Amino acid sequence: MGTNFPQSHHLQTTHLSLPRKQFLSYVLYALLPLALLHYLLFNPLAAPKPPLLAQPQAREAAPSQHRHAPVNALEEQLPPPPPAPGRGGEALGETQGGDVSASGSASPPCDYSDGEWVPDARPPLYDGTSCGTIKDGQNCMAHGRPDTGYLHWRWRPRRCDLPAFSPEAFLRWLRNRHLAFVGDSMARNQGESLLCLLASRSRPDLVYRDGEENRFRRWVFREHNATVSIFWSPLLVRVAEKAEHAGVRHNNVFLDSFDERWMSRLGGIDAAVLSVGHWFLIPGVYHDGGRVVGCHDCADLNRTETAFFGAFKEAVRRTLAEVARRHGADSKLVAVTTFSPAHFEGDWDKAGACPRRHPYREDEKGLGYTEKEMRRTVLEAVAAHAGAGPLRFAALDVTRLANLRPDGHPGPYMRSDPFAGGPDARVQNDCVHWCMPGPIDTFNEILLQTVAG
Ligand SMILES: *[C@@H]1O[C@H](CO)[C@@H](O)[C@H](O)[C@H]1NC(C)=O
Ligand SMILES: *[C@@H]1O[C@H](CO)[C@@H](O)[C@H](O)[C@H]1NC(C)=O
Repeated sequence: MGTNFPQSHHLQTTHLSLPRKQFLSYVLYALLPLALLHYLLFNPLAAPKPPLLAQPQAREAAPSQHRHAPVNALEEQLPPPPPAPGRGGEALGETQGGDVSASGSASPPCDYSDGEWVPDARPPLYDGTSCGTIKDGQNCMAHGRPDTGYLHWRWRPRRCDLPAFSPEAFLRWLRNRHLAFVGDSMARNQGESLLCLLASRSRPDLVYRDGEENRFRRWVFREHNATVSIFWSPLLVRVAEKAEHAGVRHNNVFLDSFDERWMSRLGGIDAAVLSVGHWFLIPGVYHDGGRVVGCHDCADLNRTETAFFGAFKEAVRRTLAEVARRHGADSKLVAVTTFSPAHFEGDWDKAGACPRRHPYREDEKGLGYTEKEMRRTVLEAVAAHAGAGPLRFAALDVTRLANLRPDGHPGPYMRSDPFAGGPDARVQNDCVHWCMPGPIDTFNEILLQTVAG
């Protein structure tokens, strides 16, 4: 196909509005370390060989990806968080316990996104052996990660308190309810973290699983008639996933077609946590109304790069609008987890791809352009539905707290005993997902406050 394809207004606007420097910055972010990211996200355990990634490119990519953002003007531009709706509390919290801090209707809700990591001597609620639902690649303890300092930090919001996770309070809320995690492997990571946290008090039974790598699963805590499920939907909307073995290296993303594998199930779900982002960074062709309206990392298709931001925005915005259209009268919570940054630095195949062993201080590490844009898209899409009715939308704004945790990823411990081949052996690193236990447990501390709010 040699002709230019039409671009939708949204995508074109997004593309054209990018200043050149920022454009270069995200192109570097997107094209270089993403070969590896892409590999991790797509099929973390299937193939033992490392991805092909040119070394000089990897070295170039790191500084641009980790460049400090000098000024974070984002906060000022964002609308204030939606007020805690009175009706939501009644609808969702009739069994709410006293140890869940409920924000009174007079006081503004806490901004958990702004804070710092402080030392915390308490042990995690679970470990690498006490929980049966840790995906192998995230079980850092079982894989022999020797340091344990990353387990002993707690997130302290600047202006309020984030209570420690209470499995009892969460299970009380979850009684007779169904909570679903929907999204990519970060959604799975967060869902498994919650299961492990809850399993420290009550045993979940896996009652359903389906799909390659168990992409669809459901557990029941029988003592509580409480259900947790995980739905694979890496772009929220319908996608024909790439198939490299068949020569298809792009995801074909259909922005006007909902992923009914989860969308059609929402009627029986009381709360859904949507978590997507990283899959938009890998090569994609975007379809809308039967036409191709854009693509990302698509030079091989002789098409103009439009970036992925517009597609991400459309997918999130249209998905929330459709949920509101179908379920506006239902008492339901839809929470959207904001973008969770990766922390690759240096050579991908050395032990030190994410070598830091301490959190960053707040002033040490600002958000990069991609992280800011992805976060803002979610916050704006959620704010657009604030206070609309019994259906409640919320953002789980974890981008900044996650950005400060380069120490929380599996790194080489995505595999067991990674240095068995000697200290100089090439190893693959996962600097995207989170060790369990680890910083992702904090996402669920915020989720507890959100469901109870
Ligand atoms: C790429 O697109 C341009 C303009 O649409 C066209 O002139 C050119 O022949 C195309 N190249 C290939 C290899 O298809
Ligand atoms: C058990 O929980 C489900 C939601 O997952 C709910 O539909 C059902 O009514 C509950 N059963 C009882 C007996 O309350």
